[in-house]
Amino acid sequence: RKPVSLPRLNEMRERGEKITMLTAYDATFAAVADAAGVECILVGDSLGMVCQGLASTAGVTLETMAYHVESVARGLRRVQGTAWLLGDLPFGSYHESKEQAMRSAAQLVHAGAHMIKLEGGGWTAETTRFLVERGIPVCAHLGLTPQTVHALGGYRVQGRGDAAALTLKRHALELQDAGATMLVLEMVPAALSAEITAQLPHCHTIGIGAGKGTAGQVLVMHDMLGVNLGKNPKFVRNFMEGASSVRDAMAAYVAAVKDGSFPDDSLHAW
Ligand code: KIV
Ligand code: NA
Repeated sequence: RKPVSLPRLNEMRERGEKITMLTAYDATFAAVADAAGVECILVGDSLGMVCQGLASTAGVTLETMAYHVESVARGLRRVQGTAWLLGDLPFGSYHESKEQAMRSAAQLVHAGAHMIKLEGGGWTAETTRFLVERGIPVCAHLGLTPQTVHALGGYRVQGRGDAAALTLKRHALELQDAGATMLVLEMVPAALSAEITAQLPHCHTIGIGAGKGTAGQVLVMHDMLGVNLGKNPKFVRNFMEGASSVRDAMAAYVAAVKDGSFPDDSLHAW
């Protein structure tokens, strides 16, 4: 198998093949996800909740992110994995200035990330351009941005109503113009995320709770394996049901995203 790269992701998009992404936080699960055919592995700051037991992702530090990115990168190297590896820049590590964002991104790149992800629209376009010009691929993240959950008023759908939808579309276009080549859309109405996807030929949308009209899908690994501390958001499917191993469950997720049977838009209230 050839390593997943930006040109390969572009080819998949062109032929209409959905891109699959899962989070992973350690060497072994990352290797299993890679073997199951997951193209993109995200070391998400969701590790604050699923690994560290924090109340939100806002408490995760850059040092913690670098530790987990390194572990995942080692796991992938051990098995000669081919996945594209993304690392989340945590809250506070890119907000002060473009220079601070560059220093933080470099730490995750040193740890083995191929691409960094940062949340938010508007001010993040300038930061994105700065990083992309310096050779770091950037994945943006709009809609429900968990690092700012308190400002958003809770874990709720975003982009509802004409004004909010227009702002989201404008932010997405600005991020593509700034050079972002991927964009996570979290808890956005399916019709809106499909419209944004059509607007962004050079930036691949990856949805979570955003319907099936995106270029790809992402889930938090623990959620799709049915292991968690609370209750799952309703857009999640437990892929362990009917699977005989974690690897089978991940392979079933990949198959369901590719054949369009996941997500099921009827499971969204939005
Ligand atoms: O941290 C994370 O796991 C994420 C995904 C849910 C996109 O940002
Ligand atoms: Na995240």
